[in-house]
Amino acid sequence: MVKIVEVGLRDGLQNESTFIPTEIKVECIQGLIAAGLKHLEVTSFVHPKWIPSLRDADKLVTSLPRVHEVSYRALVPNRRGLERALAADIDEVAVFLSASETHNKKNINQSIADSLTSMQEVTALAISAKKKVRGYVSTVFGCPYEGKVSHRQVIEICERLLSYGVYEISLGDTIGVATPKQVKQMLRSLGEYVPMRTLAGHFHDTHGTALANSYVALEEGISTLDSSFGGLGGCPYAPGAAGNMATEDLIYMLEGNGVSTGVNLSNLCAVSVKLQEWLQKPLPSRVLHHYVAAAKR
Ligand code: HMG
Ligand code: MG
Repeated sequence: MVKIVEVGLRDGLQNESTFIPTEIKVECIQGLIAAGLKHLEVTSFVHPKWIPSLRDADKLVTSLPRVHEVSYRALVPNRRGLERALAADIDEVAVFLSASETHNKKNINQSIADSLTSMQEVTALAISAKKKVRGYVSTVFGCPYEGKVSHRQVIEICERLLSYGVYEISLGDTIGVATPKQVKQMLRSLGEYVPMRTLAGHFHDTHGTALANSYVALEEGISTLDSSFGGLGGCPYAPGAAGNMATEDLIYMLEGNGVSTGVNLSNLCAVSVKLQEWLQKPLPSRVLHHYVAAAKR
């Protein structure tokens, strides 16, 4: 069983200059749920000046349909973000920081030490409000400003996050530089200190290795993967970073390998086609391209 966390509405749209109207986001979310996805990261309660395309976070979350077994998640960078997320009654929140100082400073305007202090407070408050908390660690496999990131640094941050009460840590290949061997080595190092069931893979596809990295991560014992419909995505504070692994491509690989996902590929592609029209550009998913070409024949 592989758990897929669909992050396109958040990680994908945060990188787009086009503002997608809230009603269209809701339609996309309904389409993703109808296609069979259950874990949806839908927005971020960050500062609207930093991420203008997600400035409707409060309105979006309060407009979402409640659906059995579907959980909505959102990123919260600080206490203010958590207060907004709780007011909108999100199901689950995600706290985030980077494993490299420079990216952390550019992304959330803080040192790693200050971010950890803030995350401890936010996690405790969220748990006391009965919300589950996920943690993200970015730049695990390389930083756009500092290059290599040490295993020790990633292990120490993951241990701290788990001690605060996060139930899962998503390991971000923020700029899509990881290769399968590197993923294997990092997971083996981490696995000596951190339970594998608490880890998730979050691979961006800048160099076309996201699917291969995910395959290796599954072989190493990870069972949760993040992906975005159409392959939307990127980080505005990581120059050159491409989209996340496409959910369509992941589903194709898993189903072909005999792993049942419960996701209907053509329904999923239909949601990506709709968003492509709004963004007025093709999205990178290979399976989506094939679907669109086949529909024209
Ligand atoms: P700051 O400017 O240092 O904030 O930004 P501040 O604490 O100094 O406050 C300044 C003003 O912002 C104040 O308002 C605050 O109230 C307000 P004023 O008093 O001046 O009127 N403020 C807020 N308003 C709304 N919501 C909030 C909030 N917080 C403060 N939550 C901050 C610090 C963290 C807010 C900012 O840096 C920020 O929003 N950063 C977000 C960047 C971001 O979203 N990056 C992308 C997500 S991470 C990612 O993509 C990686 C990931 O996908 C994994 C991977 O791929 O590796 C997760
Ligand atoms: Mg990301």
